[in-house]
Amino acid sequence: MLASNTNSSVFIRPMTHQDLEIVINLHRKSFDGYMNVFLGKQFLKKYMSWFVSNSSASAYVAEESNIVVGYFIGAPVGYPIELNKYLLKVGIWSIISHPKIFLHPNFIQTIRSRLKIFLKKNKNISLKDSESFFSLVGIACDPNIRNIGVGKKLMDEFKCFVFKNGYSMARLSVYEENYIARSFYEKNGWKFLSKNKNIINYYLKIIL
Ligand SMILES: CC(C)(COP(=O)(O)OP(=O)(O)OC[C@H]1O[C@@H](n2cnc3c(N)ncnc32)[C@H](O)[C@@H]1OP(=O)(O)O)[C@@H](O)C(=O)NCCC(=O)NCCS
Repeated sequence: MLASNTNSSVFIRPMTHQDLEIVINLHRKSFDGYMNVFLGKQFLKKYMSWFVSNSSASAYVAEESNIVVGYFIGAPVGYPIELNKYLLKVGIWSIISHPKIFLHPNFIQTIRSRLKIFLKKNKNISLKDSESFFSLVGIACDPNIRNIGVGKKLMDEFKCFVFKNGYSMARLSVYEENYIARSFYEKNGWKFLSKNKNIINYYLKIIL
């Protein structure tokens, strides 16, 4: 049973492979209509598992009474080069088996940006070269327990992780129309960095 008006019994711990099923369900509820959700469960499992397995990435969950109620994932800026390589086979298979993806409004833009990343790979840009910023790739809480501070707990853990791992700056991207998330980020100290079409980039100087 989830507490309805408190987050005091919520604690944050590293995500494990056993959490993936429930994290994926949470992700699907939180990001309905997003491209990676269109690609299906198998794709999402592989996607999330990269953050759990990769030693330079971070993946944490918020847990209450043994139930996972939130998560965040992050990685050093430049991570899509390795991630895309890891996802190539399952990505191709998921596109073929979910042909509706071709109708997704962001399909062309996403494929174009993935191709650009592959081309950059040829210029030998690696995860290690671009480690001065750490990316917050995703954060979400169960819709039933939002706006009671669980997101902030996850965010505080993210800041700790980033700081402990030797970074002083973090960044993230969010859709312009995601007003709730933008308000949440701004409340947690994130500042406007740049805008590209309907995507806003924020940065955070990590001070603990
Ligand atoms: C963004 C998100 C993680 C915030 O988690 P949360 O646990 O609700 O956030 P907290 O309770 O710690 O923070 C509360 C702050 O978030 C914002 N917020 C949360 N819910 C809100 C709502 N329904 N309306 C407006 N602002 C809201 C406000 O800034 C709020 O502060 P305030 O109440 O003082 O105005 C959560 O809304 C979520 O999972 N959203 C869906 C997934 C998503 O969009 N993720 C971000 C994109 S990567």
